[in-house]
Amino acid sequence: MIEVKDLYKEFNGVPVLKGISTTFEKGKTSMIIGQSGSGKTVFLKCLVGLHVPESGLICFDGRKHTELDIKQRRQLRKEIGMVFQGGALYDSLTVEENIMFPLKMFTRDSYSDMLKRVNFVLDRVNLVNANKKFPAEISGGMQKRVSIARAIVMNPKYLFCDEPNSGLDPNTATVIDNLIQEITKEYQMITVINSHDMNSVMEIGEKIVFLKDGVKAWEGSNKEIFKTENEAIVNFVYSSNLFKKVREAYLNETK
Ligand SMILES: Nc1ncnc2c1ncn2[C@@H]1O[C@H](COP(=O)(O)OP(=O)(O)O)[C@@H](O)[C@H]1O
Ligand SMILES: [Mg+2]
Repeated sequence: MIEVKDLYKEFNGVPVLKGISTTFEKGKTSMIIGQSGSGKTVFLKCLVGLHVPESGLICFDGRKHTELDIKQRRQLRKEIGMVFQGGALYDSLTVEENIMFPLKMFTRDSYSDMLKRVNFVLDRVNLVNANKKFPAEISGGMQKRVSIARAIVMNPKYLFCDEPNSGLDPNTATVIDNLIQEITKEYQMITVINSHDMNSVMEIGEKIVFLKDGVKAWEGSNKEIFKTENEAIVNFVYSSNLFKKVREAYLNETK
């Protein structure tokens, strides 16, 4: 379990995360949702250790961020896979080289073992015969698959994805969502996804943390989201016209 308690982060005296507490469980896809600028990326970066919070607790299966020495920190880093916003693939490296990168950095495996692992994860994300292609030569959806393959190549316990669907058409977005959820179940990872896409939220949001101006304004599951009276989350959901209609239909049906 990942435990977050009273997380506080500011930049130059301006608070961005104002005391966030929540937990993320194994085998579940948890989602951080909220409008652009609500603090999702900063939150995720605090979790993976790219930002240092001013105060608060972050604990990965009993390991508190603040109490780790360099060796323990490196170990934890190895257990984390990340899919960055925009994919963040190296343009000058092939698909195969991109995915092999973490293996080269963190393991002493032989080249043939690394290649086996690369091909295993490429197969897992349904990308075959793409090894020698460069990122610019493949579609946005394929690039996302490569990012996911790279994130899971070290067999991580924790997977963090920042807006994995940005820039994808709705069908491809759903395929990527389902892939992340399947992998989460299959490898029993703790997965945390940043999103502002209501489709994704309804599709795979087993746990949803709604951020508003750096505060946790609501938390629940995708099943609960239509039943809640919480004004902040209802307004967020209502900002999508489609969901406004679906919610009204749902409430009418259950009257
Ligand atoms: N490195 C930074 N320095 C100063 N302010 C930042 C930095 N990163 C993010 N912020 C501010 O923090 C707030 C939350 O940003 P962010 O987490 O990126 O939002 P989201 O991902 O929800 O769109 C924004 O107001 C943003 O301008
Ligand atoms: Mg963001």
